[in-house]
Amino acid sequence: MRHTVVLTAQYPSIARDILAPLAELVEHPTEHERSEDDVITILSEADAAIALLSDPLTRRVLAANPNLRMIANYAVGYNNVDVNAARELGIVVTNTPGVLTEATADLTMALILAVMRRVLEGADEVRRTARCIWEPLHLLGVSLQGKRLGIVGMGRIGSAVAARARAFGMDVAGVRRGEPLDDLLATSDVVSLHAPLTRETFHLIDAAALAKMKRGAFLINTARGKLVDEAALCDALQRGRLRGAGLDVYEDEPRVSPRLLALPNVVALPHIGSATEETRSAMARIAATDVARYLTGQPPLYAIV
Ligand code: 8YV
Repeated sequence: MRHTVVLTAQYPSIARDILAPLAELVEHPTEHERSEDDVITILSEADAAIALLSDPLTRRVLAANPNLRMIANYAVGYNNVDVNAARELGIVVTNTPGVLTEATADLTMALILAVMRRVLEGADEVRRTARCIWEPLHLLGVSLQGKRLGIVGMGRIGSAVAARARAFGMDVAGVRRGEPLDDLLATSDVVSLHAPLTRETFHLIDAAALAKMKRGAFLINTARGKLVDEAALCDALQRGRLRGAGLDVYEDEPRVSPRLLALPNVVALPHIGSATEETRSAMARIAATDVARYLTGQPPLYAIV
C-alpha cells in the first residue's frame, strides 16, 4: 500500500519530483498562520509530511493521527515542534541544517549595511522626491570599518556572519550557547542574534539586556523574534538609546508591531533569511530526501528526534 505524504505548503518542485514516485502526495496551499486544529485536519491522512515553521507541531497535533510517523520540518529552526512529544510518540522529525547558512548570513550583512548606512531611508527619499540630493551632512550613517560586531550564537550562521563582517573590517566577538552576554552587550557597536528559540533564549534581549548595550548601538535579528522583548526594543529605539535595528523576524509573526514600523531607524524585512532560489530548493531537496529515506526504510540524514 502506498504511503500518503502531506505537503502543508507549496514547496519548490524538487520536493514533488523526489516524492511523487514513492507516495501519494496531498498538497495544501501555503498558509501564513494555522491553528492546531487546522494542522490536525490537514495531517489527518498523513503517514509522513513536510511542514512549515508556522505549522504548530504540538503534542496535541502530533498525537491526533496515529499513522503519522515522520515529519520533515522545512526550516533549520524547530521551535514549532514539541520535541519531547515527538520522541515519546516515536515520530521522526527532521530539519534542514547547513543549506541556509550562507543565505542567512548574507541577509544579516544586508541588514547591518542597511541600518548603519541608512540604505532604506536613502532609497525612499529618491523615489519620493525623484531627486538625488548631495549635502555634506545629509543621511550620514556609521562606518562598519573598525566597529565591533557582537554575535550572540556562534554556531553555523553566526560564524558565517563573522567571516563576512571581518571582510568589512569589523572587529568580531561572539558568545556560544550558555556563555555570559554582559561583556559582549556592553562593548559591541552592533549586536547580531543567531541563537535558536528555546525556553532559555526567550526574551534573551529584554529591557535589562538592552540597557547594558552601548548607547547608540544597533541590534540585528535574523534568528527568531521571540529572542527579543519587542516592546522594550521599541522603548530603547524611541529613547535613542539604540541607534537602529535591522529585523527579519518578529515576536508575533506574521504580525509586525505598528510601534516598530513607526520608527524610521528600523529596517523590517519579512523573514527572508533563507529566501534564495538556491537555498529554498536545497531545503526542499533535503526535507524530501529524508521523507523518501523514511518511506524506503533508511535512517534520515537530519533527524532532530
Ligand atoms: C525559513 C527559518 O524561511 O530555517 C529557518 O529556521 O527561519 C527560515 O529559513 C522558514 O523557517 C521556512 O519555514
